[in-house]
Amino acid sequence: MDAIDMHKPYDTTDKDWWRGAVIYQIYPRSFQDSNGDGIGDLIGISQRMGYIASLGVDAIWISPFFTSPMKDFGYDVSDYCDVDPMFGTLADFDVVVEAAHQHGLKVMIDLVLSHTSDQHPWFQESKSGRTNPKSDWYVWSDPKPDGTPPNNWLSIFGGPAWQWDAGREQYYLHNFLVEQPDLNFHNDDVQDAILATTRFWLDRGVDGFRLDTINFYYADKELRDNPALPPERRNANIAPSVNPYNHQEHLYSKNQPENIGFLKRFRALLDEYPASSCVGEVGDAQRGLELLGQYTSGPEMVHMCYAFEFLAKTKLDATRVAQVFEELDRVAKDGWPCWAFSNHDVQRHASRWDLTPQAQRLFATMIMCLRGSVCMYQGEELGLPEADVAFEDLQDPYGIAFWPEFKGRDGCRTPMVWEPSNQNGGFSDGFPWLPVSHDHLNRSVKAQEEEPSAILHHYRRAIAFRKEYPALVKGDHGGVFAHGDVLEFTREYQGQTLFCAFNLSDTPSLHGMPAGDWVTIGHELGGATPSPDYKLHLGPWQACLALKQE
Ligand code: BGC
Ligand code: MG
Repeated sequence: MDAIDMHKPYDTTDKDWWRGAVIYQIYPRSFQDSNGDGIGDLIGISQRMGYIASLGVDAIWISPFFTSPMKDFGYDVSDYCDVDPMFGTLADFDVVVEAAHQHGLKVMIDLVLSHTSDQHPWFQESKSGRTNPKSDWYVWSDPKPDGTPPNNWLSIFGGPAWQWDAGREQYYLHNFLVEQPDLNFHNDDVQDAILATTRFWLDRGVDGFRLDTINFYYADKELRDNPALPPERRNANIAPSVNPYNHQEHLYSKNQPENIGFLKRFRALLDEYPASSCVGEVGDAQRGLELLGQYTSGPEMVHMCYAFEFLAKTKLDATRVAQVFEELDRVAKDGWPCWAFSNHDVQRHASRWDLTPQAQRLFATMIMCLRGSVCMYQGEELGLPEADVAFEDLQDPYGIAFWPEFKGRDGCRTPMVWEPSNQNGGFSDGFPWLPVSHDHLNRSVKAQEEEPSAILHHYRRAIAFRKEYPALVKGDHGGVFAHGDVLEFTREYQGQTLFCAFNLSDTPSLHGMPAGDWVTIGHELGGATPSPDYKLHLGPWQACLALKQE
């Protein structure tokens, strides 16, 4: 299946490999089905490893493939140490790791530690009574005297964050679905059990983790009410604007100070293994970057945090990027962000920001030049737009709950398209769990491989460009500035200085180059060259990339 074979060595000597890495996110249900059941699987992933390596990325992040009732498509885990049969077996996972390592790729898996499935044996035991050894493993509370839930917390997926359990005659907390009860991290036995499952995967050879909802691990011990958030401070970055979750300031239901202690324990475990790394997903509409700073500063905390800033609905412009970096410098100076434009939770950015092909390319070039690591989502390299999924085909409970004002996450989760000839785009011989988008077929990998001007090649070039200049991978930046629609910054590392400018608009723009002697680079990315008098003419959606001559 895999024509491209690239062998770069798998290297565990560079403990810092994650800094500036490009990580390819695989949503396993939709990547490649190998057994015709219409659902992507681990063997499918291993069959496509050569393609992934050909992009030039450093690592893969595989969304959850653990045993799960699939109420939230794997983000509801019922056994942390096994593979769901629909995705394969532990032996298949070993094949994935081996294939990845053969191609020099690191493997990061997605640990969903904040909550389990309600079918997890831990929860089954916990709910069986108030005095069993696991009775305190989840967040249980008596009702208020009037029978209502203990506080006003809301679930992101709609409705109250509390579900009544008739057996215990108590409520339990669920920040997400009713079927995703939250673990009680105040209990050390819970932490120990979680760390033991983490060790299981490290021993199996994984190189790192994406940590789901890392700032939700702890809830306030006293279960205090969250205050209301004034409308002017609401921000629909995390939840769609029609979701009342945005009406609260989540002071007590997440972001608890105790989390720092657990994250240190987590990091200490990772440090026992060579070159392991993790990226924590920090979902917070108000304090995301501040938490990123807290969680990633210094060698005792997690390596990186996955930021929501560039996943926003509002189209990214130069001012916003500059603002984000200015805030990051203020609240997370020594922290390390991981950026993404698209993932399995948001509308694909080609559609979300209504981007022309030219704009998509410039954004790709830009993200590869920013300080931070990068996660790209399967199909992003093909420039895929959001798929239109009919209500009858919807799978995501979030979308079903908020339809049609918010259509959920199925439109970014439809199967990857490998070839145009097969009606399922080469994804599956069976009936796919979500329909393959017809709009996607002519953008398949095979079609783009044969078309030199396709965006897929641009992504490869942009990644290769980043890799060529250590300043882009690991360097600092000398301030990120917006001049109208043009974003400008320098990156520096060990005597190498790069200048990067991006015209994020349809209008040509004229600028001066910074002082110094510069030679333009990155012509393969369509970059502009300044005139001999150092005037920089940037066409619409054009970059200028230059290297300082010492
Ligand atoms: C994941 C979602 C998931 C949620 C609950 C996240 O942020 O990315 O897909 O529904 O956590 O686990
Ligand atoms: Mg399958």
